[in-house]
Amino acid sequence: MSRFVQHRWLVLLLASFAFLFSSCDDKTEQREKLIMVTSATFPPYEFYQGEHIVGIDADMVREIARRNNIDLIIEDMAFDSIIAAIQTGKADVAASGITVTEDRKKQIDFTTSYVKADQVIIVREDSTIDGADAMKGKRIGVQHGTTGDTYVTTNICEPERFQDGALAVASLATGKIDAVVLDSAPAKKHVERNVGLKILPVSLASEEYAMAIRKNRPELLKMINDTLTAMQADGTMDAITAKYQSKEAKEADKAKSKGFGEWLSHSFEVNFLKDDRWKYLMNGFWVTIEISFCAVLMGLIIGFLVAVIRSTHDQTGRHKILNFLCHIYLTVVRGTPVVVQLLIIYFVIFAAVDISKVLVAIVAFGINSGAYVAEIIRSGIMAVDRGQMEAGRSLGLSYGATMRSVILPQAFKNVLPALGNEFIVLLKETSVCGYIALQDLTKGGDIIRSQTYDAFLPLIAVALIYLIVVVCLSQLLKKLETRLKKNER
Ligand code: ARG
Repeated sequence: MSRFVQHRWLVLLLASFAFLFSSCDDKTEQREKLIMVTSATFPPYEFYQGEHIVGIDADMVREIARRNNIDLIIEDMAFDSIIAAIQTGKADVAASGITVTEDRKKQIDFTTSYVKADQVIIVREDSTIDGADAMKGKRIGVQHGTTGDTYVTTNICEPERFQDGALAVASLATGKIDAVVLDSAPAKKHVERNVGLKILPVSLASEEYAMAIRKNRPELLKMINDTLTAMQADGTMDAITAKYQSKEAKEADKAKSKGFGEWLSHSFEVNFLKDDRWKYLMNGFWVTIEISFCAVLMGLIIGFLVAVIRSTHDQTGRHKILNFLCHIYLTVVRGTPVVVQLLIIYFVIFAAVDISKVLVAIVAFGINSGAYVAEIIRSGIMAVDRGQMEAGRSLGLSYGATMRSVILPQAFKNVLPALGNEFIVLLKETSVCGYIALQDLTKGGDIIRSQTYDAFLPLIAVALIYLIVVVCLSQLLKKLETRLKKNER
């Protein structure tokens, strides 16, 4: 019987690893490809239309790729991660309305610039703010890591930093902040789509946008620059820009004047049905489940090993070095935030490796969870009566055999509720995956929000889905617990 149980575990383990590795992108194909990164909450330069990233930047790089016969892959990530993605070679080119600055030139190379822009101030229509001076002491929103952020920080005051411009504008519209400093073209789009906002007729800074590429890639730089020049000369660039100049319909406007019921159904339609936006949530949901499931398995395996090593050391004094290593692992992993670990694994450890992001997330969350699982299981092992080990040994079983077939099963049963809790925490922690441009459930909601400027329904929907998953998971664990209890008798 115990043989069979052992085998079942082995099969499950192998199957999970097979699943884990099949989830890596197939990167064996060797066609020339260009990976572009952007932060797609910046209309008209980059934004989502249905499931596709479009906009002036996106179309321009598409055209560059087409003219040079290269496959293009566009990846969306937080704006403040873009320069790092280029520096570490995670992507070839960044086109994201990036302003040319001396500081950035130290990190990356810029192509020739293709747009002029300004930093402008957005306020509510009834605002008394009329320029930079009047902003002192007020709550000012910016997008984190942008030149607007730098400008406000050095010249005015400490701003409120938002993950994207749309979020900052939404906060302004609802009165949580007093002004937003943003690039002129996106500011115009945001104001067109929201009610009750205006742009002040002053420019805080004049800037130029260019694409960013990694240093020391002269062929790539030349290819892009040559194509940009050609596109400028034959009018392609102007055509692309003109395509995105049309006025936006005020979604919010249409919705506001209605009663609650009508507002809700309109909002539901816009946030989920229009352009098949529900697909962001569904695809994101599967990514979240895949990452959580594999990470839980990985965490369990690591946790079991570490717990056994640590308690063996505690009880017998064996495995000194291994115990020491486990100790370091626990200290480091439990002493640092999981987002930071995720970023380090992605940008530092796997910097030079072309590896699927899902796999990176699984590894990061698996390693993180392992540390907590280890301590949970160790406390379970310690809670098993010492007499059990002695009994096992006096029956002639070895230390390892007693551990495996007497101690661990009991320990596991004891800690099941705590383990369940850890899985639930892990599932929710994966919501930071958006930092490495993974489109998990949370990011799916973010994308909808950035398109519809409506925070309410997308966030509620995302919360609801997590809640449902957690409730199902708890139910499952409860069943398992009662089953194990029954076996006891
Ligand atoms: N031009 C500004 C900068 O370079 C803001 C760019 C933000 N771009 C974006 N895709 N969100 O800092």
